[in-house]
Amino acid sequence: MHPITSGLETELLRAVASAADETSLEELRVTALGKKGSISERMKTLSGMDPDERREAGAALNALKDKVAAAIAEKRRILADAVLERRLATESADVTLPIRPVMTGTIHPVSHVWEEVVQIWGDLGFAVAEGPHIEDDFYNFGALNMPPEHPARQEHDTFYFNEKPDGSRMLLRTHTSPVQIRTMRSSTPPIRIIAPGRTFRCDSDQTHTPMFHQIEGLLVDEQTNLGQLKWVLTEFCKAFFELDDVKMRFRASHFPFTEPSMEVDINCSWEAGQVKIGAGSDWLEILGSGMVHPNVLKAGGLDPDRYQGWAFGMGLDRIAMLKYGIPDLRAFFEADLRWLRHYGFSFTDVPTLAGGLS
Ligand code: PHE
Repeated sequence: MHPITSGLETELLRAVASAADETSLEELRVTALGKKGSISERMKTLSGMDPDERREAGAALNALKDKVAAAIAEKRRILADAVLERRLATESADVTLPIRPVMTGTIHPVSHVWEEVVQIWGDLGFAVAEGPHIEDDFYNFGALNMPPEHPARQEHDTFYFNEKPDGSRMLLRTHTSPVQIRTMRSSTPPIRIIAPGRTFRCDSDQTHTPMFHQIEGLLVDEQTNLGQLKWVLTEFCKAFFELDDVKMRFRASHFPFTEPSMEVDINCSWEAGQVKIGAGSDWLEILGSGMVHPNVLKAGGLDPDRYQGWAFGMGLDRIAMLKYGIPDLRAFFEADLRWLRHYGFSFTDVPTLAGGLS
C-alpha cells in the first residue's frame, strides 16, 4: 500500500462498515470525499511532490476515493433494505376490517328519482332518449303545433339568446317535448321512449325554479289509444309511489301538441302540512298528457293517417318532493350540505325494480 493512503483506508472502510443509519453515512461521505474531506486534504499535498512521486501518490489516492465511494453506496443499499425489512415486519393492514362509512357525499334526490323513473319505464319497454338544452324555435314550439303567434307560447316564460343575423333566436328548452320531435325524425315506429332532463323557464317562487327537471314519454305505433295511456300511467304511479293501488283522476285539458289532452291528478291527503299519496280525499296534479296531435306527427316526419301516438310530460322535481316529503323546491338547487345529507341517498342505494326503488 502506498504510504499516502496507509492508515486512512482502514480507518475509512471501518467507519463505513459501522455506520448505523443513512444520516451518519452521509456525514461520513462528506468527511471522507467532500471538498474539505480527508482524501481531498491529502490530495493538496501532491503539489509539493516531485513528478514521479506525485503520479504514484495521486493514483493511490484516486483508487482510495473510488473504493470508499463504492463502500458507501453498498452500505447505503444495505441500510435501505434493513429499513424496508423493519417496516414490513412491523406494519400490517387488517383486510378483514369493515369499511368506514363513506358518507361524505350523497346522491341528490333528483338524481335518485331520475334513476327510479328510468327503471320503471325501462321495465315497461321504454328506452331513454335525449335532446339538447339549447333548442331553436322549431323544436321547442313550431313543430309542437305552436306557430309564432300561438298564445300558449306566452305561458312558457322562455329564456331567449341574442338574435342571430337572420333574426332568429335560440332558446333554453321550456319543456322536454322537443325530444318527441327529434326522436320521431330519427327513428321509425314503433317508438317507445322517455326523455328525462333539464328544462328552463324564467320563473322563481316556492314551487318554481328557473331550471327544473321534466320527464317526457312518447309512444308512436300504428295503433294505440287513450285507454292504454291511462293504464300505463296508473302502472307507473303504482310502481313509483310503491303502492298496491292508487286512485287517479284524468281531467280534460288543453295542450297544443295533444288532442285530446288530459291532466292527471293523483289521490292524496294532507296531514299537518305533510302530503300522503294514495289515500284521502284530495287531488294533486302530477302530469300533462294526451294523444299526439296529427300536426306534431307530421312535423316529426310521420304520416298521421298511418301512425298515432300518445305522450306525457311530468315534473321530476315535483314527484321527488311528493314521494320523499320534501317541502321546498328551491332547496333542491341551493347545494346546502345539511339538506343534501338529510335528503340525499347513499351511493349504494341503486334503485332497481327487483331490489326496491327507494
Ligand atoms: N310539455 C308539457 C308541459 O311542459 C307537458 C306535456 C307533455 C303535455 C306531453 C302533454 C304531452 O307542460
